[in-house]
Amino acid sequence: MSNQDYLKVAIKAAKQSGPIFRKYFGKPKKVISKSKDFANLVTEVDLKIEKAIRQSIGKHFPEHIFLGEETGTNPRANTNDYTWIVDPIDGTTNFIHGIPFCCISIALWHKQKPLVAIVYNPVTNESFTAIAKQGSFKNGKKIKVSGQKYIKSAYGGFGWGKEIKAAKYFFPFIKKNSQKIRTFGAAAWEICMVASGIFDFHLQTKFSLWDFAAAALIVQEAGGRITDLRGNDIGLKTTSVIASNGKIHKELLKIIR
Ligand code: IPD
Ligand code: CA
Ligand code: CA
Repeated sequence: MSNQDYLKVAIKAAKQSGPIFRKYFGKPKKVISKSKDFANLVTEVDLKIEKAIRQSIGKHFPEHIFLGEETGTNPRANTNDYTWIVDPIDGTTNFIHGIPFCCISIALWHKQKPLVAIVYNPVTNESFTAIAKQGSFKNGKKIKVSGQKYIKSAYGGFGWGKEIKAAKYFFPFIKKNSQKIRTFGAAAWEICMVASGIFDFHLQTKFSLWDFAAAALIVQEAGGRITDLRGNDIGLKTTSVIASNGKIHKELLKIIR
């Protein structure tokens, strides 16, 4: 199997859920709060999409590990194995409210590094794909990060996941030193905005592997950089990241220290 074959399976798995995503966009029938966290929402559409992706990947690669936001992982997880990391809907709250900042995210990692990735927005019909060492593409066209060299003129995204404490600490440094920051509520999509040169950077604290597993490869392959907030390479245990066009990365890390 080549990486190209893996990507084909990932694309098929993502695109098969396009119709259901579009059908319920802005009008899911049922919205549930996860466990005790009233702000952490899930719909029946998240669950249906993840099940469909799990099934179609499992059919091709029954020996691979599957880690999904909604259905978890199988028990024999050895982190060096081939591991599919899936967020069926990134930006669920946007999805519920009919805001088209939401997407399906599928990545395949091997030996703790991303190999192939797709981030697909069925509403706008935009898909970002990447294969390690083979570049990044948006709807089949090669993309690259912005050329912005100065943090003072840099435009970027900022987001937080499970708790606000870390974000509150980092926010003033980024706000004071950059041109402007925005928060759109779909980390995978926002990191792809760095990959395609719309944003110059994106900082996100306390989120989960499935939020960035695919977008990380897409931004790297578009010529950008993504690290944790200390500048270390990302891995399966990373919980906060800074993604950038690469040119302003060192300066960003310096600012937030
Ligand atoms: C969330 C989004 C959001 C990020 C949260 C994630 P979800 O994903 O990516 O931007 O700040 O940490 O949980 O819950 O919509 O899949
Ligand atoms: Ca997510
Ligand atoms: Ca999700």
